Amino acid sequence: MDRTAQLTARLPEREIAYDPPASAPSLHVRAAQVLDANWTGSSTVPSRSLYPHQWSWDSAFIAIGLRHLSPLRAQTELETLLAAQWGDGRIPHIVFNPSVPLDAYFPSPDFWRSSTAGRAAGAPRTVQTSGIVQPPVHALAAWLVHCADPGLSQARGFLAGVYPRLAAWHRYLLHRRDLGGGGLVSVMHPWEQGMDNSPCWDAPLSRVTPAPARSFRRADLDHGAPEDRPTDLDYGRYVRLATDYRDRSYADGDGEFAVEDPAFNALLIASEHALARIAAELGAAGTARHARAERLTAALVKRLWDAASGMFLCRDLRGGELIPERSVSGLVPLVLPGLPRPVAAALVRTLCGPHFGLGESTAMVPSYDLLGEAFDPHRYWRGPAWFNTSWLLERGLRAHGERQRADALREAVLSLADATGFAEYVDPYTGEACGATGFGWTAALALDLLHERPGHTVSPTATGAFDTSDKGGDRG
Ligand code: SER
Repeated sequence: MDRTAQLTARLPEREIAYDPPASAPSLHVRAAQVLDANWTGSSTVPSRSLYPHQWSWDSAFIAIGLRHLSPLRAQTELETLLAAQWGDGRIPHIVFNPSVPLDAYFPSPDFWRSSTAGRAAGAPRTVQTSGIVQPPVHALAAWLVHCADPGLSQARGFLAGVYPRLAAWHRYLLHRRDLGGGGLVSVMHPWEQGMDNSPCWDAPLSRVTPAPARSFRRADLDHGAPEDRPTDLDYGRYVRLATDYRDRSYADGDGEFAVEDPAFNALLIASEHALARIAAELGAAGTARHARAERLTAALVKRLWDAASGMFLCRDLRGGELIPERSVSGLVPLVLPGLPRPVAAALVRTLCGPHFGLGESTAMVPSYDLLGEAFDPHRYWRGPAWFNTSWLLERGLRAHGERQRADALREAVLSLADATGFAEYVDPYTGEACGATGFGWTAALALDLLHERPGHTVSPTATGAFDTSDKGGDRG
């Protein structure tokens, strides 16, 4: 049975309209074609239509897949992003391509005004960027890219070049963004966390007065179906928060929206472990970084673990409470090797239980609670399954010894990437494509899974979920 047939057989009432001709190029070739088509010469766009610039966490995930095709391009991808880093250490969530017309994407450079409004925070002068950040997947990506071709990496001084920038990035997050004082990083805008319209933000966003609809023009609706995208009301609030931040010259701390998010912090912890390995590779001691990652893991459990839900929740710092919504973000800490064993076991139960249905009613991980009132199988981060979070959970399941579940999730990611033309996200029940197709991280992460042996196990080392090669043991 081929992969699509297996998937279809496992899921009741699924309809995957996919019947590739026998002569179709392999999944590997087509994934590579997407990454080639989205390559600009120095970085990769997530989508030629919907997202025509460089996005921060997209580039990190893309580099992780691209390393199998061209380690040089993967290194360049990260170097291009890091070249737009601000003086205060932040890595902006978008680096704008000056040759793309202003009206192709909103908010455009003339909204963010990075080189003027961001001057006090050290925004670069020669390149235009946004002023907010995205999840810190970069050190992890840099380590994995290095491992793909250590000889090239060494010859180009790749790690030595990126290490100080990655260290400054983590310093920015840990020193400027610990808004709750409990050791975790806060996001100040839903776009920073990356899951823009997650129902987790509904309560904290309800306090934000939306910018008037007439004051801006959405470009996303020129390319995406409105029912797949955030609403106009959401956009009004996104614009208000971003405008206020810009008008404070991107100074951190005072915004109306401040949330401690489990996925953002878990990815920082995974990247701290990776940075420790990078430091060790460069001849420095990584022990202090590993210790910091362990302290952050303890803070994550202390502040965001909710035993009653069997998963991590977001903490609304302005409202002062945990947000009682189940999002895939609260499962992502499964990637961490240092999680207490009962916490990891509960996460696996929740992932495979009725709220996310993995292996039962869903083949890839839904972005939000199947039983939640706000669940919508098509609308961006309010239910659809995404490829990056499913890739992370595949890694997490494997790292925690759940080999069969990891293998099944790997198969589903490959099948659905294939069946949907590398969709941005899919209906978690039917596998129907939503958002853009030819999506960068979908192609890249499918490639990454194609390059691993199904059924393999991962040793529980310090980088845990991401220790997929035997290279680069823990020398910190
Ligand atoms: N994800 C946002 C968008 O849809 C911004 O990063 O444009």
